[in-house]
Amino acid sequence: MSTQTTDEDSEATGQSDSEAPASSPGERRRAEKRERQTEKARQAAETESDEETVLLKVFRYDPEVEGKREPRFDDFHVPFYKGMTVLDALIYARDTYDSSLTFRHSCRQAICGSDALFINGRQRLGCKTQLSDLDEPVRIEPLPHQDVVKDLVVDMEHFYDQMESVEPYFDPDELPSDDMAEQRQSRENREKIKMSTRCIWCGACMSSCNIAAGDNQYLGPAAINKAYRFAMDEREGDERKEKRMEIMEQEHGVWRCQTQFSCTEVCPKDIPLTEHIQELKREAVKSNLKFW
Ligand code: SF4
Ligand code: FES
Repeated sequence: MSTQTTDEDSEATGQSDSEAPASSPGERRRAEKRERQTEKARQAAETESDEETVLLKVFRYDPEVEGKREPRFDDFHVPFYKGMTVLDALIYARDTYDSSLTFRHSCRQAICGSDALFINGRQRLGCKTQLSDLDEPVRIEPLPHQDVVKDLVVDMEHFYDQMESVEPYFDPDELPSDDMAEQRQSRENREKIKMSTRCIWCGACMSSCNIAAGDNQYLGPAAINKAYRFAMDEREGDERKEKRMEIMEQEHGVWRCQTQFSCTEVCPKDIPLTEHIQELKREAVKSNLKFW
């Protein structure tokens, strides 16, 4: 609907919509509708004329659809607005141009960890990455070193297996006799493990790690960080800590880390992963020292 049509209608009657007498409720509704449409058309024309767009180059692949089995990049021109994230742009592209474009997302606030992507050559969360911080065209790919299921969705099974293998749950040597009793932690100890508790299981660190890429059995930074979170928790006790250190000292545990810091660099929650891995290495050495 264009503004011209409405103006012509008004000229024909010699009255503007606002001036027209509201002879019946039906006419009033129609007049209001015309006004709303005119306003919408004016806003759309304004947006079109000053529209700034961003070019996305998005990885596409679908093993189940003939003609999409060959990986390729599709271009999407997305209208840009201040504060727009990569995830917002992907949602716009999917909802406007191609409903088969597939990617994971949920919370849209860096909490669920489901939209870790490889954006302009680096692992990032789509919902935490501002388009204004990126060079164009914005290249969006699935996380490297993981099998692609479809488009931007990767198979996280191996990552979850590694996380599970370090027994990622609180398991103290002794429980208080009273079920309702608190298991208190000192302020200092809480401070020590604070950062390690922030992991959102996004898998960005694992995807960035060269060692994990070459050694499928390597526990990886996220799982080791999870082990750190519990091994350093003073409430678990020495016996449990010893068992946790055994897992850490295995062939594909902490000693595989070559302190490249790539995990620390990409972690969207700023967890000092390399530092935690190094600390577990020191703990492993200390626990094996014998004084005699
Ligand atoms: S440690 Fe950081 S990068 Fe790795 S899974 Fe957790 S939040 Fe993601
Ligand atoms: S959508 Fe949940 S972390 Fe990005």
